[in-house]
Amino acid sequence: MGLDQSFVTNGSWKPDLFKGKVLFVTGGAGTICRIQTEAMILLGANAAIVGRNPEKTKQAAREMDELRPDCKVIACPNTDVRDVHSIAKAVENTVEQLGRIDFVIAGAAGNFLSDFNHLSSNAFKSVVSIDLLGSFNTVKACFEQLKKNKGSIIFVSATLHYYGIPFQIHVAAAKAGVDALSNALAVELGPLGIRSNCIAPGGIEGTEGLKRLVPDLDSFTSKIPMGRLGTTRDIAEATVYLFSPAASYVTGTVQIVDGGAWHTGNNSTSHLYPVKLVELNTQKVNKL
Ligand code: COA
Repeated sequence: MGLDQSFVTNGSWKPDLFKGKVLFVTGGAGTICRIQTEAMILLGANAAIVGRNPEKTKQAAREMDELRPDCKVIACPNTDVRDVHSIAKAVENTVEQLGRIDFVIAGAAGNFLSDFNHLSSNAFKSVVSIDLLGSFNTVKACFEQLKKNKGSIIFVSATLHYYGIPFQIHVAAAKAGVDALSNALAVELGPLGIRSNCIAPGGIEGTEGLKRLVPDLDSFTSKIPMGRLGTTRDIAEATVYLFSPAASYVTGTVQIVDGGAWHTGNNSTSHLYPVKLVELNTQKVNKL
């Protein structure tokens, strides 16, 4: 469910916190990034929603444009984060229509469960290209604006690379790279006034990721220390904090928002380990 005006009236944040600022978000039509964006809009920002799918991207932008009477939310459809020129065009469009970019959320991502044996080289490359190269490309294309406005970046990372989770080799490698990218950018770009941080969500209810990646939801949820799944609002609150002046000395960090879940070592495919995994990895696959 999306956010509404009660996020401002009953929430923890000052109205107009981001007045006059512009957010550029990849993956903004998806579940998590959409609510991150809604929170920013409700608190005064304008936004550019960047996505591959034309209908989905345009519809999300139209709906978010209704969130505040005076807001401007534009769509940058047909944009593939794997192609830096494609994002550069979206940046140009955003600056033309909204005047500037202050905040960047690099959220576009892809995922599926696969054992190593069935994960082709192309499948690995596909996820690394979207998650890691796509994150690099997004900042690359936004760099002039970030410099000009002493902007701030949030990468949407994960916790699954903190130890070896099976069936997630491709995403773990990509997200470890995203964390490294963010840390190095924090150091390189800090002197220019640009901050770079990651948010690492745990299992967030209502997301495609949860549907695709967690076959037994009840068992998974029962082992989360906070006793519930995360919500998209939990991620939105962390986003507002990291972009707000309250976090002006916070850079090169990963804000984990997972109810303490990763500390327990519980993961969505524990029940398939090791028997099913060994079975899958033993099969003969005629493809590299
Ligand atoms: N298991 C194993 N391999 C898979 C797979 C799965 N479930 N899904 C895709 N792949 C492989 C494909 O077979 C292909 O490899 P191949 O050429 O060796 O056959 C490769 O991944 C690329 O697939 P393609 O269909 O061309 O996808 P894409 O480049 O458009 O990338 C993905 C998109 C792969 C990330 C796809 O899963 C996707 O679009 N997901 C929807 C969005 C999403 O995942 N959101 C995030 C949820 S957390």
